[in-house]
Amino acid sequence: MDLEFKLNASLKTSADASNAKDVISQILKSSSDILSKGAPEGQGAKIDSWSIDDNKINLELSSGRYVRVHDAIFRLKKKITPELGKQFRIGVRGIEINSFNINVPSTTDLSHLKIPFVSSIVHENDVLYLDLNVTESELQNRIPDRILNLIEDKINALTYGGKAEHWDLLWQSDKKEHQFNKDPTQELVKQGWIKRGASRGQWIHGPESTKFFRTLEKIVIEELLEPLGYKEMIFPKLVPWEVWKRSGHAKGVYPEIYYVCPPKTRDPEYWEEVSDYYKVTHEVPVDKIKDKIGDPIGGLCYAQCPPFWVFLQGETIANDQFPIKVFDKSGTSHRYESGGIHGMERVDEFHRIEILWTGTPEQVVSDSKELQERFKHIFNNILDLEWRMAWVTPWFMAQEGLAGTSQQTDVGTIDYEAPLPYRGEDGEWLEFQNVSVNGNKYPSGFNVKSQSGEELWSGCSGVGLERWASAFLAQKGLDPENWPDEFRKRMGELPKGFSFL
Ligand code: SER
Ligand code: ZN
Repeated sequence: MDLEFKLNASLKTSADASNAKDVISQILKSSSDILSKGAPEGQGAKIDSWSIDDNKINLELSSGRYVRVHDAIFRLKKKITPELGKQFRIGVRGIEINSFNINVPSTTDLSHLKIPFVSSIVHENDVLYLDLNVTESELQNRIPDRILNLIEDKINALTYGGKAEHWDLLWQSDKKEHQFNKDPTQELVKQGWIKRGASRGQWIHGPESTKFFRTLEKIVIEELLEPLGYKEMIFPKLVPWEVWKRSGHAKGVYPEIYYVCPPKTRDPEYWEEVSDYYKVTHEVPVDKIKDKIGDPIGGLCYAQCPPFWVFLQGETIANDQFPIKVFDKSGTSHRYESGGIHGMERVDEFHRIEILWTGTPEQVVSDSKELQERFKHIFNNILDLEWRMAWVTPWFMAQEGLAGTSQQTDVGTIDYEAPLPYRGEDGEWLEFQNVSVNGNKYPSGFNVKSQSGEELWSGCSGVGLERWASAFLAQKGLDPENWPDEFRKRMGELPKGFSFL
């Protein structure tokens, strides 16, 4: 069976249209051109039956993927309305939807899903039968199309999901002898450089570790951002839904974000009960707080670059401004990570330099290449790492819960990966940063235009300091004596931290 749409609907008329029967019959008979306009030969919508009773013209339509029944009904309405008006002084008041069905061939059973406007899903004989509860306005807003896209995405993800994850090796350093084979997080804790923070997946960095992180930052600034002309900016760290709707994160980020709820009011009297409860019991009354805070307005910084785009949103930018090259290192990113004990390489709160550039497609691709060269220089000549880079599923597709590759060539993500000797010869390599060309996704999502009218692209690259540290320390250990000279030169002396009795 092929994909099928079925619509049973009535055009509501201002008076009984029985007298107009012949005219309507004529219009419907000669409607095959409007019902197939834009569709391949023989694949338009069809009128399966029709009738007139009282103040209604009832229509049963069916279609496949092209000229779908909801487009067909609007086309018919548009054709019938002026004739009824002119010849019979009868108005068409609107469309009443009696039933709307989509039948999707699928070996996958999705009958457990809860989808808005879908009142039931039945899976039988390799077909999903969807019963929609929609009105004319949902048809106008193309809700049935979005429902079908959603269903097809889910079927694809379940059928090809695993296989479509992309990974192609692009470059690999020589294999290296590593002086160290312990888990660096445990060593860092043992030597007092870091301690677990009070919150989940969070670390407090002592003076030694902080100096080490700041040295990584300094290297990125001096060896990459300054020579390539990137300018520092400060991006917001609380991201409202409005931004994630435009960035695409609203499609899939829900299991991983830290939600932010504002107080319903900042009136101290409103909160007095809560403070008094705490003062008397020394317990924070979370239930009372729940009642006094508003709905989540968004979440804490997750991907770092989306809130930047509000700066350019709606602007038309002069040609001589491109390429725009900026970076942000002004705050933490937060992800609700999977449970279980992880080291510093998997944290709920992390530090990242986010590098972002935008311009013509050629500029964006060439800036990506420049960055790749500079990163290679840093990893080979300063950090002396064993590492590789691979072309992978674009980060934004992964974050939106989509599988596979992008439609645009040149668009995609390069992941940088390093072996962690303590995980053993066959252990999983650690992704420690990425460089991505994101195509027109952001300029188009945030409605940014260039003066020339030429299409705008953008790219971004996240330098995760915890990840860099995990890769470097896993391969080199914590003793600066064993660190490369080029690194030590830039770091200077490691400060002495604190010890406890
Ligand atoms: N924004 C990109 C990401 O979230 C790069 O940092 O992976
Ligand atoms: Zn980014």
